[in-house]
Amino acid sequence: MNMGGGGPSTNNPGSMSMPGVPTPMGPGMNQQIPSGGPMLMGNTLNNNNSNENGENNGNNGNNGGNGGNDANATRNNPNMVNNRGAVHALDDPNVYHWICQLTYGPQKEQALLELGRKREQFDDLAVVLWSSFGVMTSLLNEIISVYPMLQPQMLSNNLSNRVCNALVLLQCVASHPETKNLFLQAHIPLFLFPFLNTTSRQRTFEYLRLTSLGVIGALVKNDSQDVITFLLRTDIVPLCLRIMESSSELSKTVAIFILQKILLDDVGLQYICATLERFYAVTNVLKDMVEHLTVSTPPGRLLKHIIRCYLRLSDDLEARRLLKIVLPAKLRDNTFTEVLRDDVGSKRCLAQLLLTLNEETS
Ligand code: TRP
Repeated sequence: MNMGGGGPSTNNPGSMSMPGVPTPMGPGMNQQIPSGGPMLMGNTLNNNNSNENGENNGNNGNNGGNGGNDANATRNNPNMVNNRGAVHALDDPNVYHWICQLTYGPQKEQALLELGRKREQFDDLAVVLWSSFGVMTSLLNEIISVYPMLQPQMLSNNLSNRVCNALVLLQCVASHPETKNLFLQAHIPLFLFPFLNTTSRQRTFEYLRLTSLGVIGALVKNDSQDVITFLLRTDIVPLCLRIMESSSELSKTVAIFILQKILLDDVGLQYICATLERFYAVTNVLKDMVEHLTVSTPPGRLLKHIIRCYLRLSDDLEARRLLKIVLPAKLRDNTFTEVLRDDVGSKRCLAQLLLTLNEETS
């Protein structure tokens, strides 16, 4: 299954789905760049998803409405399985054209946009991107050339869009089972850390952080020990914690998703619980999030992740002992009863957490 765009894996009920990361893309070919920044496209998890400013561009027309094209393509191409997404990318001459443009120019920017648009259409776009001479170099070049601009006022909307489109293609490579490990072995996620390390609240920076988190989210999505082992050697946890403290709601959701995935791994849980500093760094941020949930907007997906992070922490005996003291009161009283009314899974997790913490004194 192609996971571009961070949509949920609907055919895998056992696994936690990644929060819908909207994919920042440039404007459509004939559209003006809206004054505010990049377009958000195709969030398949949550139809009424909107970004922090309450906008919902609804510009996801290329994600679902190509039934007619599929039918034609199936007729013309006997190799094609009838469902969408089963075509070979290189059977489409446009893909070849844009790959060449991406490598040699002059239309690199448009190539990033066009290839990003096609990522859901082909099963093997990731493989083509990875194996085509010069493509990964070109994408990395897009990324590092923005590093000097990572200061407020220097990063234009256009540049932020452009690098987000490059990140979308990296996410495609990070999601594909055949390229994911190669992507990891080449240490490419490290190139995203300068973006995750920014703190500006400007939209251009928010989009960069969100899209970068989307790449990491795609990596951790289907539980893989290698991914967690790799990430634990980096500063991903403190970076996610900072984003959970102070970024947009969407970035927070993806950051806590990543943290939750790390915690669910045994080595990840041990890592967090290895020192008091780490444990408190995590629980202080979770506690702050709980505090803010009640005062601002409806908690939605964040609360669900918060509860599961606490529950998982309680699997560690030392952490369990400390959680009895630091678990926010709002999770103990009935503050969220109404909010969780329709979320049986989270209600159960919370009940189990409280039960675990109340059991056996000391
Ligand atoms: N190098 C730090 C450490 O190992 C990384 C870190 C900072 C960290 N804050 C954290 C790790 C919070 C986990 C949780 O502690």
